[in-house]
Amino acid sequence: MLLLDGNQLSSVIRKEILAKVIQFCQNDIRPPHLAAVIVGDNPASQAYVRNKMRACEEVGFASSLIKKAIGTTQTELLDVIAKLNEDNQLDGYIVQLPLPRHIDEHAINLAINPSKDVDGFHPNNFGKMALGFKTFQPATPMGIMMMLDRYKIETEGKHCVVLGRSNIVGTPIALLMSKKTKPGNATVTIAHSRTANLKEICQSADILIAALGIPKFVKGDMVKDGVVVIDVGINKMEDPNSSKGYRLVGDVDFDEVSKKASAITPVPGGVGPMTITALLENTWSAYSKLF
Ligand code: GUN
Repeated sequence: MLLLDGNQLSSVIRKEILAKVIQFCQNDIRPPHLAAVIVGDNPASQAYVRNKMRACEEVGFASSLIKKAIGTTQTELLDVIAKLNEDNQLDGYIVQLPLPRHIDEHAINLAINPSKDVDGFHPNNFGKMALGFKTFQPATPMGIMMMLDRYKIETEGKHCVVLGRSNIVGTPIALLMSKKTKPGNATVTIAHSRTANLKEICQSADILIAALGIPKFVKGDMVKDGVVVIDVGINKMEDPNSSKGYRLVGDVDFDEVSKKASAITPVPGGVGPMTITALLENTWSAYSKLF
């Protein structure tokens, strides 16, 4: 069984990004600059954003964190976005999701300048991705594709089952895996909460991508021998033996499924760090005005 180590691979790729920054940013040329906007005090979102800002430091990027109170109105958030769009010292930014319920996520994504949309959520960029143009791709699916590429996992002609159909992960990863690309060229099934015969569909997967947000949902008897498993889930589970009182588990029951898998991502340390590495790549692309 091959452990798809997102920490180790991220460390390699981030060193490559740092080398580009060091080479390019001599003679007082400013480095790439990423900003993140967070609304409210969701602890998981705060932790994710902190990790993104820390990763910027690792690769020599500048970073800014903009914290807004939970009661921030949609108009106030749109004002913040308008300022970020105009700031010519800023290459890219993200608005951390989920947003409070009184804010319309679609309205926010539409307001982001597509050339600074390093999350790839603006319809311009999402549409370009769907059509196979070069553009910003959402960070989690992009990180998964980078991982499949670097670990040389064969995807052509394979049956890839995606559990979950979110705009952030399920839908874009299904698109990317089905494209005439390498990695890609897979036959893709999107399964979700209304899917019938889910167990049988999972059992027919050569590649299983779990992004449904239910702890340890995928059990050993749901997969076939030799399956490649990408676990996108990050769920907190109570654990009195841990100093924090909890531990992180994925959407896959790792102990059971790893016995049958040919390759599998751990949680934590699999897809999570790759997501952040993909965001850094997108920020480099925004800085270099590639799209
Ligand atoms: N929340 C969970 N994943 C993501 C992501 O990739 N980007 C943003 N902005 N919010 C998220």
